[in-house]
Amino acid sequence: MGRLAMVLCLSSTAAATAARTSGSVPACPPLRGNVTVKVPDIYPESADFAFSTCKFYLGSLNNGSLVEWDPYTSMGEIIEIPEVGHNPDFFLCGVDYSHATGTIYASVSARDPWMPYIGASLRGPNRLIHYSPQEKAILWQANVDSLVQEIERDTGSPVAGFQDSAEDADGNAYFIAAFGNAILQVDPDGHAIKFYSPERPATTYGFGGAFVTGDNVLVVADAVSHAFVRFELSGPAPSHPTVAAPRGHHPEPGPGPERQNGGGGGVLECDALVAPPRYQDRVCLCSAVVDRALSPHGAIAAYRSEDGWRTSRFAGAIPVEFGQAPDVWSTAQLATADRVYALSSALPYDESLAFPRTGSTTLVDITDKIDALVGELAPGADRSDGAGHAHEEL
Ligand SMILES: *[C@@H]1O[C@H](CO)[C@@H](O)[C@H](O)[C@H]1NC(C)=O
Ligand SMILES: *[C@@H]1O[C@H](CO)[C@@H](O)[C@H](O)[C@H]1NC(C)=O
Repeated sequence: MGRLAMVLCLSSTAAATAARTSGSVPACPPLRGNVTVKVPDIYPESADFAFSTCKFYLGSLNNGSLVEWDPYTSMGEIIEIPEVGHNPDFFLCGVDYSHATGTIYASVSARDPWMPYIGASLRGPNRLIHYSPQEKAILWQANVDSLVQEIERDTGSPVAGFQDSAEDADGNAYFIAAFGNAILQVDPDGHAIKFYSPERPATTYGFGGAFVTGDNVLVVADAVSHAFVRFELSGPAPSHPTVAAPRGHHPEPGPGPERQNGGGGGVLECDALVAPPRYQDRVCLCSAVVDRALSPHGAIAAYRSEDGWRTSRFAGAIPVEFGQAPDVWSTAQLATADRVYALSSALPYDESLAFPRTGSTTLVDITDKIDALVGELAPGADRSDGAGHAHEEL
């Protein structure tokens, strides 16, 4: 189990609230190609792009800090978070941009659920940090511990590992627990209430990532049901989900190329979930870091939906083969208005649990690879060439 330890905080998910390019902010100058973030020993678990400042924000898992990176000037800055930074109780997991507010949310989880192995101990503090990139200020830190304890008393089951968030059209954040599958709704002032918890919570890894669509639908990837859990936030019963597994997964991991294409065993176990604006809410990417059947360093699995995620289909996966030393996985994907990136995460995946030293980390431009997987859903794709159907049998 030691080797899995860090896939930790499996976290993240940079959920892009797709399709919205924040009407109120001017478009960012175009970017293309890999972005190298030259900050040493960054230990990144998650990242997102802020349309409000045209900068990337990366979370440093081990340091509990945020890194701001300007891809146009290649200048970076470390943003320290009081109480969380360099605090051995915490990991900084998910980093997520809210299109409604132009701000960044950082999901901070206790370390105990992730170290020395996943699910080690389902306890410890969790915080949601709200950061304004424009004001360069932490707006608030929501301490959710008493609320979590209340939910635990009500359900008789542990709730832990808040590793990601997604934000709705009204500026509320949905803060998701990977263990116990609870969701807290945190309003724009930092006040948290229970939004959802299952009747009979599992104690294994479940909610791994989330995004909110342009129609204000919250979609969460669940590794307990291996399905997408969908909440209509603007509907009459926002906290009553519907659950539907994606179609097209092989029942068992196949040999050769099928195996490379992922989706083995009908597994939907995501460390992050993002719906890049490029595909207008019809494609999402799951950081499939845990399933080593896909490739030695995990994979990025793509899913597609043309009915607002009522139903969905596996579209294929790309193995993470970024080639950098020491041991690089991709714990999150993220997106600008028109490109898609995979975060390179050098984290301790070996028995030592030591954090590998690095000189930089790369946001790998995977746009063309994802375009190829999703065929006619890619902008400018020729709908007549059948490319989009090539993966249907998967
Ligand atoms: C992380 O902490 C190390 C040691 O304190 C420091 O050298 C490094 O600059 C920090 N990096 C970030 C991204 O916070
Ligand atoms: C971007 O990074 C990936 C992964 O390291 C590499 O395979 C690819 O060649 C790079 N692209 C460019 C244009 O350098």
